Amino acid sequence: MFVDRNLPRRERLLTSARPLPDFDVVSASGPWLRLADGRRIFDGSSGLICVNVGQGSRAVFSRVEQQFRRSSFGGAAVVQPNLQLELMERLCQAVGRPADSVALVTCGTLGVEVAIGLARNIVRARGGKRRADILTSTLSYHGMSAFTLALAGNGVRRPRTEDAFGLGPAFPPPYPPTHGHTQGSCDASCADEVAKAIDSRGAENVAAVLLEPVNGTTGGAFVPPDGYLRRVSDICRERNVLVIHDEVLTGLWRTGTPLASHHWDGVEPDLCILSKGLGAGYTAVGAVLVAPELAPLLRHDAADPLPALGTMATHPLQAAACLGVLDELEAMDFDAFQARGQQLGAGLRSLAGQPGVRDVRGLGHLYAVELEPGLLWPLMEQAERNGVFFYPFTGAGQPKSEGIVVAPPLTSTADDISHLTTALSNAVTALARLG
Ligand SMILES: Cc1ncc(COP(=O)(O)O)c(C=O)c1O
Repeated sequence: MFVDRNLPRRERLLTSARPLPDFDVVSASGPWLRLADGRRIFDGSSGLICVNVGQGSRAVFSRVEQQFRRSSFGGAAVVQPNLQLELMERLCQAVGRPADSVALVTCGTLGVEVAIGLARNIVRARGGKRRADILTSTLSYHGMSAFTLALAGNGVRRPRTEDAFGLGPAFPPPYPPTHGHTQGSCDASCADEVAKAIDSRGAENVAAVLLEPVNGTTGGAFVPPDGYLRRVSDICRERNVLVIHDEVLTGLWRTGTPLASHHWDGVEPDLCILSKGLGAGYTAVGAVLVAPELAPLLRHDAADPLPALGTMATHPLQAAACLGVLDELEAMDFDAFQARGQQLGAGLRSLAGQPGVRDVRGLGHLYAVELEPGLLWPLMEQAERNGVFFYPFTGAGQPKSEGIVVAPPLTSTADDISHLTTALSNAVTALARLG
C-alpha cells in the first residue's frame, strides 16, 4: 500500500475532525466565542456538552489560583486530601446523596471503568463470587477505552469483533426503532428486556446493569418512558444485581435536575458516574458515587484491592476547579434557569414538523433535533453562518438516524437562548428553501 508520509499538519494531531472548518478562536466568555475574523459565535453544545457554566469563570479561576499558590500536587495517599474531601461533600449534597462515598478520577471513561471495578468488588464482598458481567444497552456510549467501547452499544464506534474481548451490549433500549413508545402510552414493559438479558446470562454471573438514565449522544437525547428506570431498578434488585447510572453527560443539572434520574421517583442507582458537568470544561475529572449501604463493603477486610487509584486521580487543582464550578452552579438563579430550559424546549419544539426535521426531543438544557438523512452537515454549516454551533449525532436504526444535540451552557441568558433558537430556525428554513 502506498503511504504518503506528508500528512497535513492538522491530520497529524490524531483527534476527531468535522467536515467543516475549525473555528479560529481568539477569546471566549460565557457561552460566546470570539473568532479571528471578528465574528462572535454562540456555543449551542457547551463545547462537547461539558462547558456547563460557560468559559472564563472568575469563581473557577480564583479557586484554582488559591490552590496553585498553596501547592500544585499532593498524592492522596501522602498529603491530607482536604480540598478533595470538601469537594466530595459539596458534590454529594448537590446531587442529593449526602452520605455517598466518592472516587475521583480523570475523565468520564475512567469513571465508568472505576464504577465497574467498584461494583464487582461490592457484589463479590456480598458473596457473589462469580458475578462479573456488566450489561449495557444496544444504544449507549460509556467512554473511549478499549474496554468501554467493547462493552457499550455505540454502533459507530464499536470495535471489530476480534478486538472486543468477547464483550458487547446486552439489551435493547426503550427507544425507537426498537421500541416506538411515546410518553404517556407506554407501560414500560420494555424494561423486561433487561430481565431477559440478566436471566439469559444467569443472574449469578451478573454484577451490574450500566445505563444512561437519559440518552446522551448515541441516539440523541432520548428520554425513557415513565416507569422504565423504576422497573429496571426493581428487576435488578430482585436479582441482586447493582444498578450503575452513567450520568457523565447528564449529571449536575444538564436535564434540569441535579441528576437526570431525579425526573422519576424510586430510581436512585447504587453507583452513579459524573464527569462533564463537574469539570465543566475547566478540568479533566470523573466522580463515582457509591451508596452508603454499599460503600463499607469496599473497605471490608476481605475486599479486593480498591480499583480507584491513579497518579492524577484526586488531584488538588482538579478539586479546586470543580469547587469553582459548584460555586457557579449554586450561584445560579434556579427559577430563571428553569425558565431558560422551558424557553429552549418551546423554541426547539416549534421546529417539529418543519421540512427536514424528523423529531425534536429532550428536556432541561439537553435536546436533540433529528433530521432527514443527509441534512446534518448542511444544517450545521448554515447554523454556523447564522452564529451558533451544535454537536452532531449519528445514532439509532439502519440507516442510522442523524441530527444535532442542542445543549447550551446552563448559565445562558434569555437573549442567548433566543439567539440560538432563531439562528437554528432560520437555518432550517434556509435549508428547506434550498431543498
Ligand atoms: C454517557 C457518557 N459516558 C461516558 C463518556 C466518556 O467520558 P470522557 O469523554 O470524559 O472519557 C461520555 C462522553 O461523551 C458520555 O457521554
